[in-house]
Amino acid sequence: MTSLKNKIVFITGASSGIGKATALAFAKEGAKTIITARRIERLEELAAEIKNKCNSEVLPLKLDVRNKEEVKNIIENLPKEWSEIDILINNAGLGRGLNKLYEDDIDGWEEMIDTNIKGLLYVTRNIVPGMVKRGNGHVINIGSIAGHEAYGGGSVYCATKHAVAAITRSLRIDLLGTGVRVSTVDPGMVETEFSIVRFYGDEERAKNVYKGLTPLTGEDVADAVIFCATRPPHANINEMIIMPSAQANAFIAYRTE
Ligand SMILES: NC(=O)c1ccc[n+]([C@@H]2O[C@H](COP(=O)([O-])OP(=O)(O)OC[C@H]3O[C@@H](n4cnc5c(N)ncnc54)[C@H](OP(=O)(O)O)[C@@H]3O)[C@@H](O)[C@H]2O)c1
Repeated sequence: MTSLKNKIVFITGASSGIGKATALAFAKEGAKTIITARRIERLEELAAEIKNKCNSEVLPLKLDVRNKEEVKNIIENLPKEWSEIDILINNAGLGRGLNKLYEDDIDGWEEMIDTNIKGLLYVTRNIVPGMVKRGNGHVINIGSIAGHEAYGGGSVYCATKHAVAAITRSLRIDLLGTGVRVSTVDPGMVETEFSIVRFYGDEERAKNVYKGLTPLTGEDVADAVIFCATRPPHANINEMIIMPSAQANAFIAYRTE
């Protein structure tokens, strides 16, 4: 097993859900976490929690992954002691709506494409060269079951996660022989703020997504990420699909009510 002690981990979308749980999980292993998202107040709270609970170093940074210049500036201007990133967790992402494509809101498409695909690319493009130079690193993308299947009402979200799957596979080939590994962790239903965001703040509708079953938690996904990150250097988890036991695929789930 590879120790995570003092490894520098850069996490996008750490203000909530899977990203937040992943930041805490790395911090508990003694890693130094760079936690990023747009909601800086949430990151400050998480930083305080990490310092208290884990006694490990943490750097909260406000970052909108859709902003190409901001991504470049933040990464280029990291304090020296934080600049040699060992592990990148590309987690920031969202779904918008669950409408038929021909009736859907185009602004939501732009948001998903700009965040889930272009944001992931900007962050990766700016962090991976340093990893290659040092001959060591690991990129772990948070994909989705939506990168393996396509469901009605999810054309653009599924397309973005299929894109993440393709980027993961191509990047792994590009990085062969460099010492930099690439993995993807692809969850089914996880109860986070994801559905609240997807339904534009409609909490009732969001709750119904998980009705009658036990969904995954952010911590379940964080465990899977930690497993990927702690394999010895000669072993790589290419792809991990993690689902609630009550969910068979994107279409079929067993519900008790
Ligand atoms: N929940 C699920 O069922 C599920 C299943 C499969 C895959 N996923 C994937 O898991 C990842 C995390 O989602 P989650 O379930 O943890 O949802 P969440 O609780 O809504 O968290 C999403 C995170 O992404 C950040 N984010 C969104 N837009 C951003 C932007 N433009 N720039 C920077 N950060 C941004 C949010 O932070 P700010 O708003 O503060 O910027 C937040 O921290 C996403 O990629 C999602 O597609 C989720």
